[in-house]
Amino acid sequence: MNKEAILEEINQTKNLSSLNEVCDKYLGRQGELTELLRSLKNLSQEEKASQGKEINILKKELEEIVNQKKEELSQNGEEKKDWIDVTAPGPKPAEGHLHPITIVQRQIEDIFQSMGFSVVYGPEVETEHYNFDALNVPKDHPARDMWDTFWLKGLKNLLRTHTSPMQARYMEKNNPPLRIIVPGKVFRHEATDASHEAQFNQVEGLMVGKDISVANFQAIIEEFLKRFFGPEIEMRLRPSYFPFTEPSFEIDMRRKGRSWLEIMGAGMVHPNVFEAVKYNPKEWQGFAFGMGIDRLAMLKYNIGDIRLFNSGDLRFIKQF
Ligand code: DAH
Repeated sequence: MNKEAILEEINQTKNLSSLNEVCDKYLGRQGELTELLRSLKNLSQEEKASQGKEINILKKELEEIVNQKKEELSQNGEEKKDWIDVTAPGPKPAEGHLHPITIVQRQIEDIFQSMGFSVVYGPEVETEHYNFDALNVPKDHPARDMWDTFWLKGLKNLLRTHTSPMQARYMEKNNPPLRIIVPGKVFRHEATDASHEAQFNQVEGLMVGKDISVANFQAIIEEFLKRFFGPEIEMRLRPSYFPFTEPSFEIDMRRKGRSWLEIMGAGMVHPNVFEAVKYNPKEWQGFAFGMGIDRLAMLKYNIGDIRLFNSGDLRFIKQF
């Protein structure tokens, strides 16, 4: 039995299982040292005492060294390689969430759907015809200046300046009566500031029937605002001008203790718009409206700057 050799063997081990093997080989129940102690019983009383003492001292020493080595290996993280805890939870994947504009858009869709409106979507690249002409905004008419337009090469197509063109597209393909909303991105060629962006979001609304009136419009919008902002909301109509409606109004809303805020344009669909889509304006009438989703989100969540929505600033986005 060579002590140095055993120590060297212990020293060479690189993980807990090989250390355990060495430990068993010498100190285990059938280990060499254990056998040696057992074999002492055949010796004389004196020899038994002296050799037994010697072996026991060696045994103790080895046990200490093994324990020390065990600790060393565990600290190195070696022990982790020896077994897998199948019950341990896996690493948690980073969880995403919806953008505030998407959240608000879906709330708007839900409320209008519950009132019988279909949700439809239109193209973001539009023709001059649907964005302007079909909406009673002729070429060279000063009303075109209401929308600063991004024209695409060739001056035939443009980035839609509002969601209103989908009114004409939808009516061309569907017969009245109808109720739709059209959420989506719109684009304006204008300088940005805290309340203006070159790209933002609108929801268009259109309801056409035999006798749809301003009263219907008021009732539906009021119901929408109460469900979106809460029952204490107040609204008012102000006369305004849009080429595609007559009469036209601007809708303001007010929350308890706050001032009036403009949130949408609206009106009764102009006969020329019906004629452009081959509806008989003597037979059909209806209302239309267009509101800014970003505006509604800013009011709901008290956001002071519209540019935050597309800033990519995670400190902002992560709050929703
Ligand atoms: N399209 C208008 C805008 O972007 C908003 C609007 C006003 C839409 C009146 C309508 C409407 O449908 O009837 O400024």
